[in-house]
Amino acid sequence: MNAIEAQELTRDFGATRALDGLSFAVPRGQLFGLVGADGAGKTTAIRALAGLIALDGGRALVAGRDVASGGSLVRESLGLVPQQSSLYPDLSVAENLRFFARLFCLPKQDFRERSARLLGITRLEPFAGRRADALSGGMYKKLALACALLHRPEVLLLDEPTVGVDPVSRRELWALLHEFVAEGMTVLLSTPYMDEAERCHRVALVHEGRLLLEGEPGALLDDFARSPACRQTAPSFETLFLARLEQADRERERGDA
Ligand SMILES: Nc1ncnc2c1ncn2[C@@H]1O[C@H](COP(=O)(O)OP(=O)(O)OP(=O)(O)O)[C@@H](O)[C@H]1O
Ligand SMILES: [Mg+2]
Repeated sequence: MNAIEAQELTRDFGATRALDGLSFAVPRGQLFGLVGADGAGKTTAIRALAGLIALDGGRALVAGRDVASGGSLVRESLGLVPQQSSLYPDLSVAENLRFFARLFCLPKQDFRERSARLLGITRLEPFAGRRADALSGGMYKKLALACALLHRPEVLLLDEPTVGVDPVSRRELWALLHEFVAEGMTVLLSTPYMDEAERCHRVALVHEGRLLLEGEPGALLDDFARSPACRQTAPSFETLFLARLEQADRERERGDA
């Protein structure tokens, strides 16, 4: 069963079409990467999947339920780490966790156990008393992740979690995500870094609100290596994705002409 389904998502902001019939599916227990440049539509897609914005067309399903009508059942099954800050800057690490636990009506005992475990795995325990606005970028992202995981969501959505994070914390974050997935969680994340594609079970390349490419990273790279568009012996995701983006631009120019 698919944990997430984006079906022909379409959304306009004035004259800008942020999502243009974007479709993809994430099977349960997989780590799915939405790769795309600035303005590709990643945040809009994640907001649509979280039920935070209305769509002009299409449907977003999480755990088999339409997010537009699923109400609290959908909200409970979802964890969201937004691109922009989601925490209270003047509250400490522990206070932010407590705030989110109250938001999800977590029983006290559950909160104690869960926050202790999350502080441990994110290695934020020594900083429990530090204000959120005094954390480093990487620590802040890990706290946002911990807050999103308090209620044990089935599906975790993360918008550019590795941007502004140093390479060591970035590796830790990926290791954490793989741990959650191994425990059965479904994770969808967005990233502007093309080289992060290889860390996902499946990736989708998004451009101007449309899907340009989707599949298993290894298979995508093998297909590309065999295609005439590839002029290297050892192609990377960067060359693959850039070649596909250039092709899309050429197609559009021909279409507009
Ligand atoms: N609330 C809004 N009002 C007007 N335009 C918007 C709004 N939200 C998004 N857009 C536009 O929709 C397009 C897609 O934006 P979106 O934020 O989804 O891209 P993104 O892939 O997340 O980019 P980034 O990597 O920079 O975060 C952009 O052209 C953006 O300017
Ligand atoms: Mg964004």
